[in-house]
Amino acid sequence: MTLEPIRVPSAWLDLRERADAAARARELVGRLRRQLPTGDLVIHDLACGTGAMGRWLAPRLPGRQRWVLHDRDADLLDVAASAPPRAADGARVDVEVRHGDITRLAAGDLAGADLVTASALLDLLTAEELRVLIDVCTAAGCPALLTLSVVGRVQLTPADPLDARVAAAFDAHQRRTTARGKLLGPDAVPAAVQGFRRSGSEVLVRPSPWRLAASQAGLAAEWLAGWVGAAREQEPGLAAATELYTRRRLADARAGRLVVRVEHADLLTLPAGRGTR
Ligand SMILES: C[S@@+](CC[C@H](N)C(=O)[O-])C[C@H]1O[C@@H](n2cnc3c(N)ncnc32)[C@H](O)[C@@H]1O
Repeated sequence: MTLEPIRVPSAWLDLRERADAAARARELVGRLRRQLPTGDLVIHDLACGTGAMGRWLAPRLPGRQRWVLHDRDADLLDVAASAPPRAADGARVDVEVRHGDITRLAAGDLAGADLVTASALLDLLTAEELRVLIDVCTAAGCPALLTLSVVGRVQLTPADPLDARVAAAFDAHQRRTTARGKLLGPDAVPAAVQGFRRSGSEVLVRPSPWRLAASQAGLAAEWLAGWVGAAREQEPGLAAATELYTRRRLADARAGRLVVRVEHADLLTLPAGRGTR
């Protein structure tokens, strides 16, 4: 059993922001815009980190917006609050931070929300935590845009016979048992789709893959180091088997010779009765 929580370094979030922005499913934003009320918007971003979702989405939505940013890491919240973005039409975006555990939110905490967002969060949750999240989103009665959840598929080019073994151990690590319970990892997307549909919401799912090549060599190398590290932690026997592999793959990634595709999925949920626009 792993002890939690592990803090997410701000430098890692900086490094991935450009790849995340390129990966996000823009088509869902068009659909979302048709569901939002005209006038000022209140948006709750759950587990906001340094605020990448707001920096990406606020300039794609019109009008004044108030973003309520939730995270359990006060240092990340400080960064998130430091430079609010602007709306699509240049309107002002106000930011309010809420320091706390999003798995302990109650329905009233999101009262008045026009939209709930989260990014790179669902796969970190347990099934019970996801159930709570679905309940609070459903009670808020507004759309939810839940992006960049890993789905358990990666592809490295050129391929290596050890890739599949590392990938399987990494996925097992994503599903590891922690003090909070078993994490969903790659099971998060189907579980969220099922849970939201059971609550009466319409759910749209779109792919949002990272495609990391030479121009993202730094991120590809960091990702690879973390991917192999998690796999080795899960399956210590892999350490010897992957020693040369890791050195070679890392050198290739740093030199821009490795192309990495990491599959994610974005979800847009529309509450009952709002799915037709
Ligand atoms: C992978 S980062 C993603 C951050 C941001 N959404 C983004 O896309 O850049 C996960 C974030 O979730 C936060 N987090 C994880 N579990 C949380 C919880 N139970 N309550 C509040 N924040 C949480 C972490 O502090 C971290 O900022």
